[in-house]
Formats: sequence, structure tokens, C-alpha cells
Amino acid sequence: MTEATDAPTSETPEQPLEERGSNRSRRPSSRAFREFMASSWAPAAESPLERSEVADHSERRRAAISEQFPGDRLVIPAGGLKVRSNDTDYRYRPHSAFAHLTGLGSDVEPDAVLVLHPVFADDPDGEGDAGVPAGHEAVLYVRPMAGRESEEFYGDARYGEFWVGSRPSLEEIEKLTGIRTVHLDELPDAVGKDVGQVRVRVVPDADQVTSNTVDALRGAHEEHAENDAKLAEALSELRLVKDAWEVEQLREAVAASIAGFEDVVRALPRAAEHARGERVIEGVFGARAREEGNGIGYDTIAAAGDHATTLHWIRNDGQVRHGELVLLDAGVEVDSLYTADITRTLPVDGTFSETQRQVYTAVLDAADAAFAAARPGVRFREVHAAAMAVLAQRLAEWGLLPVDVETALGEEGQQHRRWMPHGTSHHLGLDVHDCAQARAEMYLDAELRPGMVFTIEPGLYFKSDDLAVPERFRGIGVRIEDDVLVTADGVENLSAALPRRPEDVEAWMASLAQG
Ligand code: GLY
Ligand code: MN
Ligand code: MN
Repeated sequence: MTEATDAPTSETPEQPLEERGSNRSRRPSSRAFREFMASSWAPAAESPLERSEVADHSERRRAAISEQFPGDRLVIPAGGLKVRSNDTDYRYRPHSAFAHLTGLGSDVEPDAVLVLHPVFADDPDGEGDAGVPAGHEAVLYVRPMAGRESEEFYGDARYGEFWVGSRPSLEEIEKLTGIRTVHLDELPDAVGKDVGQVRVRVVPDADQVTSNTVDALRGAHEEHAENDAKLAEALSELRLVKDAWEVEQLREAVAASIAGFEDVVRALPRAAEHARGERVIEGVFGARAREEGNGIGYDTIAAAGDHATTLHWIRNDGQVRHGELVLLDAGVEVDSLYTADITRTLPVDGTFSETQRQVYTAVLDAADAAFAAARPGVRFREVHAAAMAVLAQRLAEWGLLPVDVETALGEEGQQHRRWMPHGTSHHLGLDVHDCAQARAEMYLDAELRPGMVFTIEPGLYFKSDDLAVPERFRGIGVRIEDDVLVTADGVENLSAALPRRPEDVEAWMASLAQG
């Protein structure tokens, strides 16, 4: 199957055959063929689409962002297809801010744009040039499915129904989202109509095509970048506290991920037999992610032995050796695009050695200290501090710290971070590292509030060539990562169904081996 570039359109004359890639097939374009292709199709079935469950939630989210930018036009693109190579694209995923404000997930089509148009009271001519800001009207700009009589239908390998399947009509999207939906072609006029009077903000880095369109309309101005960044920041902060529907999505993502971890445990004997056992693990988890959800929420880290000490080990081409640990950091992204982010470090043969258990228990104790610290009113960074205090203490007891615990924990010390260089927690949601554009005072320095969801994921990583640790520790990397919901008076471990304590991990692995 090939790209659409050899399909002639009414605007582009046919390219001579010799100028085309040799592997590209030529599609017929005669009038007779076009007429034949447009004929004899059964009428479209009645649409089953109805207003989605999330529509009320996304309406509230739009209202919250509207309040922060009175009188401004806000442009939130879903983003376009990205070329993987030549005429093949990556599987499409919309920008998270777009998904959040529309409630559309894996079903969204490329290039859609949500615009919140400012509404003005006392604006008789509707031009937006007078009156007081009075909220926004949301409009979705979407490329509708082309008719059967069009060349897009059979000739466009990127968007044509014959190639990539049907997509909802504008009416159906409007019904589903509760947002007025019009043709994408109307976007430039709608954004540009009063550009002299209305400030336009566009989410940066979501879609270069839309950004270019907006920039061409609003002209060069150094304030634009700052205005856009402020919008991105507000959209990020809007996601810090999850609503009930989002929490439900995250629970589903966690449940599917736990099923994936169970699949991996069952596949460990096969992984241990394979020259690239880490790939077996990655593949088994990936199959579950595609079967139950939209896919993986981020590249799976399947890291056996010393590979576990490489924090972002996604090459996953190593062997899974008997007697070693394997660190699996993986999450299923469900169709609404919310993802889990879970890590377990498992003994390949089902039983921890004494040294492995020692390192594992230190990490578990650090995680438990973080759990104990986390509750509404506590600052995000204090959760991290609680975990660090335990790890520094343990490293000191093992004689690894070149300074005392107090010095290590001080700002000028931090020697323990040699073996735990990452943060203990990050917000989790539509993005695995959710809310990343939020200001520090809303994130690291903010107090926890009910509805926040974040990870607790301390680790210890002793590289095989780390001469600062005794030989028995070298080549051991452990991380334990759970997904946590802040409740009214504490936290709930959303991933608690996946065993964490070493003896529970061993019992769980044994039970799966029998089943
Ligand atoms: N899987 C990425 C992380 O744990 O943050
Ligand atoms: Mn994480
Ligand atoms: Mn992770």
C-alpha cells in the first residue's frame, strides 16, 4: 500500500510515471472510473453516536479555561499526522489538551482544531469589537469525510475512506461532544476575522500547521510566544485535579496494566529462553495494551540485570538471565488516552536473593514513607523528601555515603542521589508526565489536593561498574512505582492490586506459574 502522492487531483495534473517512486502503484483517474467509483453504494447506516458520558465534564473544563482568558481567542489543535518514513505515518494520537477539552480520545481525526471564540455582551454586530467579555463559544473545526464521488474516497491513502476507514460526520461529532462542529476550511476566516481587536493564543507545539496559520493572521509580535506559553501553562494546571470521570479512566488503565504485568510473569520462562528476552516482555505487555486499550502510554522499559540501572532503558534487546532481577516499567493507555505508569522489579526465577531483597526492601521502605507522608495539605516535594530520607539512611547504614545522612540530605550534599537520580513523583493522567507545563508553585511547591493523581516511584540503581558500592550490589537496579489518588483525608494506591512486598511478589509469581 502506498502514499497518496500519485493520486492525481483536480488541482494537480498527473505526474509523469517516470517521476514517481518505482514502488508506487498508479490509480486510475478517468472520468468513467470516477463515475463508476461514485455509484452503487448502499446508503449509510443510521449513526449510533450519542452525546458521550464525558461531554459534561469537558464542558466544565472549557468553562474553567474560558474564565482565565476573558476576551481572548483560544486555539487548541489536535495536531496532524507525523511521517514515520517516506509514505507511512505514525499511528495518530491527538494532543492531550485537545483531548481534555473535547472529551475525544483515540477516535479523534487528525488536524481537528478546537477554538474558544470570545463572546462579548452588548456586541450587536457580532464582530467582537465592542462590549464586555462574556465567556466563550466553543467550535470544533474538523475535516469531514469526503463523499463517495470524491477522489479522496479512493485516491487518498492518508485520509481517504477506502484506505483508512470511515470517520464520523460533522453532525455526529457535534452530537458526541456537544460542541458546534464545522468544516476545517472555515478555520482561517474564523481566527482572522477580528484579529486586530482580539488577542489570539494558540497552544504551542501542538500543531505546526495551525500555528503557522495563526501566525500568518496575527502577524509578528514578540508577545505572542509569551501569551501562548501562558495558555499552555493554564491548560496544564487545569489537569492537576482530576474529575470523577478521569479517575475512572485511570482505574481502567491501571486494571489493564495489572493484567499486562500478569501476562509478563507467565511469559518469564519463555523470556529467559530467548536471546532477546526483554523484547519478549515488551511484546507481551504491548499485546495486552493494544487488546485492552489504545496502546502503551509510553515506551515500555523491560530491563533485566544491569540494564535496570539505565533509567530510560527502552532498547529492550537484552537477555533475561536466571538469578537476576527484571525491572518492568509499563502502562496501558486506554481509549480515552489516560495512562497508568507502574513499575515492578521481579526476580526472574520467582525468588529474591538475599542481596536483591535487601535493596528491594530499602526501596519499598522509601515508597512506604512517601505513602505515609502523602495527604491533602502536604506539599508535593515533601513526598519526595520522605522517600529520600529513608534511602539516605539506608545507604549510610550500608557504608556507601561519603558524608553523614544530614549532610547528604542538605542542599549542598545530595550524595545519595548518585543512586536515585530521578524524582519520586510526577502527576499522571492524559500524559504520563502530566501537567508538565504547570508552574512550580502549582506543582512541586503546591499542597496536595483531593483528586490529584501522581506516582510514587523511588528506586536504587547500582551500575555494574560503580566502584563506590560493594561488588554484591553492582548490577542491581530496583524501582517500585505505584499510581496514587489523593482522597479527602489521605491517598489511595490505585495499583495496590499488584503485589509490592517481596514475599507477596514471590507468592503472586508462584501462583501465576501454576495457573
Ligand atoms: N515511565 C516513566 C516514568 O516512570 O516516569
Ligand atoms: Mn513514572
Ligand atoms: Mn514509570
